[in-house]
Amino acid sequence: MTARSTHSPYMHWAKTRFQSQPRYGLTNSGVMNFPISELNVRLEDLDLSGPSYYGYPPLQEALARHTKAPLESIVAAQGTSGANYLAMAALLQPGDDCLVESPVYDPLLHAASSLGARINRFRRHAEDGFRIRLDEVRQAMTPATRLIVISNLHNPSSAFIDETTLRGLAALARESNARVLVDEVYLEAMYEDAPPSAFFLDPVFVITSSLTKAYGLSGLRCGWILAEPDLARRMWLLNDLMGVIPAHSAERLSILALDQLPAIAARARRILDPNRALLHAFLERHPRLQGGRISHGTVSFPRLPGVDVDAFCARLLEHHGVSVVPGSFFEAPEHLRITIGCATETLRGGLEGLAAALAEI
Ligand SMILES: Cc1ncc(COP(=O)(O)O)c(C=O)c1O
Repeated sequence: MTARSTHSPYMHWAKTRFQSQPRYGLTNSGVMNFPISELNVRLEDLDLSGPSYYGYPPLQEALARHTKAPLESIVAAQGTSGANYLAMAALLQPGDDCLVESPVYDPLLHAASSLGARINRFRRHAEDGFRIRLDEVRQAMTPATRLIVISNLHNPSSAFIDETTLRGLAALARESNARVLVDEVYLEAMYEDAPPSAFFLDPVFVITSSLTKAYGLSGLRCGWILAEPDLARRMWLLNDLMGVIPAHSAERLSILALDQLPAIAARARRILDPNRALLHAFLERHPRLQGGRISHGTVSFPRLPGVDVDAFCARLLEHHGVSVVPGSFFEAPEHLRITIGCATETLRGGLEGLAAALAEI
């Protein structure tokens, strides 16, 4: 990639692709939206304005309780997207090399490129469950590498990165004076099984996350960055150029949501657990789709070899009303991404449509 990116093709597609909602929408990667009627909130809990300068103190404290990170390391951000952009803007100078995983959630790639970084890549391979091979990361690094960008759980595959690999990445980064940005938005979807954030493993890690995916709370835009205090301060100052202050009512609602997170997480698990079983039973019956089993997370990324998957996805939508994300948006054109974060009936209907489309091949 040479020219600076100006947008994310995937995000544009996701926002404009459908003239009307598909009957079985399996593209949204998070747990379906949490309804405000289920949030325990009174009007007097909200306000339009409040003392939110470098963070609204009660929200900072709620984030500290949730992440277990010290207050001085937490930077509030507009969703994980805002967190990623702000973190990268603080970590990258034009001309720096930035090493990005592939397959990748494409706004991560284009955010780094838009900031003037030179992009290098390393591959995560379907054959070994999209795990990170440290030797391939080492080979892709250059003396100018200042940032390595990964997601844990991995979007699109939901692959988990273990502690040994994270420590190996930290060692590689330290050797060349680089940092590692770990987008942990899907790690939240491991709920009580989630290991401690990579933030606690090594100071080279900069973490981004939000309440968006695991809890169905995208509309709150409650995101955060975890970084060493000096770096966190730089990010707060940089944020003055972009956001100044967030919507205060959303900050208040985020505090309530964080307080009620156990119940919100239980609702998410009630959606994901049966859906995962449904997906696995489906994959068992359809060996033409390879891989795709997931222990955690909200998305599955099976491979459909020997087929034009872009055309297959278009037919799936047109003939069966089922939308999935073609793997070409993730640089893996033989794959397709299926969510399990939707209503069980939607997943069931979508998988029936997928079975019918597979039978037509
Ligand atoms: C890896 C990853 N990071 C960030 C986001 C966006 O998160 P948010 O909605 O909190 O900005 C997504 C959304 O799909 C994602 O997959």
